[in-house]
Amino acid sequence: MDRTLRYDPSAARQRLEPELWERVEPQLLAARQDVIADVVLWNSGGPVPESKQPLDAGFIELPMRLLDDCRQRGPLSLAGRIETVAARLREAVDRFVVLGIGGSYMGARALFEALCHRYHNELPRDRRSGVPRVYFEGNNLDNDTLSDLLALLADSDRRTDFQSVRPGDDAAAGRTGSPSCGVEDRWAMAVISKSGGTLETAAAFRLLRRALEAECGPDSDEVRQRIVPVTGETGRLRDLAVARGYSDVFPIPDGVGGRFSVLTAVGLLPAAVMGLDVVALLQGAADMTERFANDPFGDNPVLDYVAVCHLFEKHHGMKIRLFSTWGARLEALGLWYDQLLSESLGKQERGATPITVVNTRDLHSRGQQHQEGRRDKLITNVFVQSPSRAPLALPAFDSDEDRLNQHAGKTLPQFLSAAFEGTNRAYAADRRPTADIVLPKLDEYALGQLFQMLMLATVVEGRLIGVNPYGQPGVEAYKRNMTEILSQA
Ligand code: PA5
Repeated sequence: MDRTLRYDPSAARQRLEPELWERVEPQLLAARQDVIADVVLWNSGGPVPESKQPLDAGFIELPMRLLDDCRQRGPLSLAGRIETVAARLREAVDRFVVLGIGGSYMGARALFEALCHRYHNELPRDRRSGVPRVYFEGNNLDNDTLSDLLALLADSDRRTDFQSVRPGDDAAAGRTGSPSCGVEDRWAMAVISKSGGTLETAAAFRLLRRALEAECGPDSDEVRQRIVPVTGETGRLRDLAVARGYSDVFPIPDGVGGRFSVLTAVGLLPAAVMGLDVVALLQGAADMTERFANDPFGDNPVLDYVAVCHLFEKHHGMKIRLFSTWGARLEALGLWYDQLLSESLGKQERGATPITVVNTRDLHSRGQQHQEGRRDKLITNVFVQSPSRAPLALPAFDSDEDRLNQHAGKTLPQFLSAAFEGTNRAYAADRRPTADIVLPKLDEYALGQLFQMLMLATVVEGRLIGVNPYGQPGVEAYKRNMTEILSQA
């Protein structure tokens, strides 16, 4: 089976003047050169011109490097060490909390929703092949959701009100190293923050750390093994990890920005704990980088995608990009892309607005507007050709009150394909442009390709329109104000 991601812009191109397509080719080839030159500059370690700062081109070659490292050093490589720690955690605990926000969380969530069992956390441990239940926190300042998680993690029999417990309390001491505590009662967490200073993540980490320390003893080896920081080379979290002596700390390399970091330990560690194939993810990304660097315009998913998005935005006023996913498992991937596009190109009063759509669900909510609303939307479908589970066929019933016997024997994938084709036909009839990203199957290799395609496309588009895709200066404003307000409180 061919596992290659396909980008098919043919329907959109019918709505596009051919000369625009021809004119944009040299610009895109120049933008590709620019992006490749950024990699060379980054690798040289030489000074980065002011106009290019910040420059976080490290994500582009990273998958190849990690794969080489893995081939050469096996268990000592980064991927190997991640797998070792993940295997240890899978064996030791039944709940795994991923703390992080923005680029330090959205990729892991996308992987979880796309590739794990839909009801993973509800399954008994043996049906999860020993993979812990997975929770995401530290991505908000929501008192109630964090309280609920703390309550869930507490052993309901013996650890009822630990929010009020301080290390050293009798109650805490009584619980320390409880011999009756089995794997089903134990939990661990990855705290992921490149800067190490993001309040949402840091505050959640404090609260959860206090709970874990109260359970296991503040200075215990158990705590040191159950907290795995993933952080930048310097910063508060790095300092804390060293001071507390956590046994495993994974780096987020300099030169890889938060929203471009899904294929560093930021995404790979949670993926490995989820039991996913980290090497296949990296291979998908590495193969996409090869295609980007070598394939001609017109047959290059990255360049062709940017061409369609850019031309419809510039010449047809389509400033809204619908990332229209088919099936329920790609919503979090869409939200990951929302962040990537918004934070990378939403600068200098420019940049398209991304919206994630989940079909067929949203045909019953947003569909009306997409079909007949303003002509300011470019639709990119993301369609998975084969389901991961055996197709469900509609049964025939003796009594046919719901009149569905006419479709008996047809499968849900057939229904979904019909909805997909029917929707696109309706858009085409009204001259609304669509393009398709087609994944043969939803697996690690496909997602590796897709992550890398969209990251590369974002950077190419930035270079094309003269917006630095790296850095997010606008995010700093709220943080500054919040810190000032808190210091006065
Ligand atoms: O893309 C980015 O850089 C941001 O979205 C960050 O990932 C986000 O703000 C979290 O930052 P940090 O990892 O430093 O906690």
